Amino acid sequence: MHTISIPMIGTDTAWRDAARRLLAARVKPDDVLWDFDGQAPQLFESTADLPAPRRAVKVSKDFVELANVVVWHKDSQRFARLYALLWRLKDTPGLMADRADPDLAKLRQMEKAVRRCQHKMKAFVRFRDLRSEGPRRSFGAWFEPTHHTMEPTAQFFVRRFGDMDWMIVTPSVTAKFTNGKLTLHPGDTKPELPEDGAEDLWGTYFCNIFNPARVKISAMTSEMPKKYWKNMPETQFIPGLIADAEEKVRKMQDAAPTLPPERMAAIRDQLMHSAQPASWNMLDADLNGCTRCPLHAPATQVVKGSGPRDAALMIVGEQPGDHEDMQGLPFVGPAGQLFRGLAAQAGLDPDAAYITNAVKHFKFKPTAKRRLHVNPATSEVDHCAWWLRSEVALMKPKLIIAMGASAARATTGNGKDITRRRGTVEVGTDGLPVFLTVHPSHLLRLPDADRETAEAAFIADLKTATGHLLQSAPSIMHLTETTRAEGSDIAAE
Ligand code: URA
Repeated sequence: MHTISIPMIGTDTAWRDAARRLLAARVKPDDVLWDFDGQAPQLFESTADLPAPRRAVKVSKDFVELANVVVWHKDSQRFARLYALLWRLKDTPGLMADRADPDLAKLRQMEKAVRRCQHKMKAFVRFRDLRSEGPRRSFGAWFEPTHHTMEPTAQFFVRRFGDMDWMIVTPSVTAKFTNGKLTLHPGDTKPELPEDGAEDLWGTYFCNIFNPARVKISAMTSEMPKKYWKNMPETQFIPGLIADAEEKVRKMQDAAPTLPPERMAAIRDQLMHSAQPASWNMLDADLNGCTRCPLHAPATQVVKGSGPRDAALMIVGEQPGDHEDMQGLPFVGPAGQLFRGLAAQAGLDPDAAYITNAVKHFKFKPTAKRRLHVNPATSEVDHCAWWLRSEVALMKPKLIIAMGASAARATTGNGKDITRRRGTVEVGTDGLPVFLTVHPSHLLRLPDADRETAEAAFIADLKTATGHLLQSAPSIMHLTETTRAEGSDIAAE
């Protein structure tokens, strides 16, 4: 019997190293006792006694990706489950594709739970200003993730908050980012954090973006589970907001604007003859004041593109939805979150791409309870494509990913037949390569039985797009390390 000790910090590398040694030494799963963070007594010999493999141990890429996520699950059996599957993979190479296999299905479930936990962590960590004296601002946060997700999510915070010092304390691991350097330490109990004036501001913002017409308590508590509430300042307002919701909806209905008259021909003429903005500043200013078509009137605000404007990749969706309209940012609602999750699984970091829409205002039909999304008409996509062309001209991306019919129409002039054209690159109206795929909201509408396959196909599309991008811009910065490594193999083939 071998006891394998896996530490709390560096769990993934320790697990990989141990699994390689065990597999190379042909140690059966039943002969391994897995200990995490010194919680089990050391009864038997440890891996140090197992020699390092002389030759590289080859393991399916799918398994490696799965294991890299599952190791952060809190289930004490995770390492044993992973090693048992790895052991079976030796003799059953097709196992990773077998959806009916119960061991694999369980691990996939665990993978999903860890990803969900990471997603919640990214959304729900709330920093408080520690008011440091030094040149860099300093922030602290306390968070209680369901799984051990501090370490694998730390790089997200590094990218997001690279210009300040911060620490996030969790019960198992503490991440500190000081002067541009990330370090990981043992976890702790909840620290004393100073009161933060910014929280009042954040509370006011939260109350303002709260849409009473959309309130669905079960959906809200599923998206923002109650266990996170105690560490989130804005949640104190939720009971009051819910209580007032009905009255507010009535007032919104009374005040709902009527759609202005159609005047598309005149607008098209006006658009076609105006000069495109010569800088991003001009584009921002013009777009903020865009009243060139009737869609602007009932919308809350224009939703501009977001993300680095010198990125190699531009991603184009259809039009902002209800959440995007309220927040002024593209792809932050349910379709956006689904897209971000699937992009991450494809090894594409959506935060490092420029994300925009074919149409810049939310088109909707007001109903008693909510604002229902309405597809933009082809004429509206054509008119608004003028803005997209201005963004493309200023940015000159190496690749555009067009998601769905409206994006395809805006970028290639043809919005038809997406099912046949998806997964391919066409030359866009601006002479740049356009990769076509379906819109992520299409996945949201599918019945559960079809959803998994459709998501896998969407991820495969994004991976193909990434391969194209790496061929045209090998040094791009927006891919995860894994994809960059895989992609360079694709490029070298
Ligand atoms: N769907 C889109 O196409 N764009 C968004 O910004 C959100 C959802």
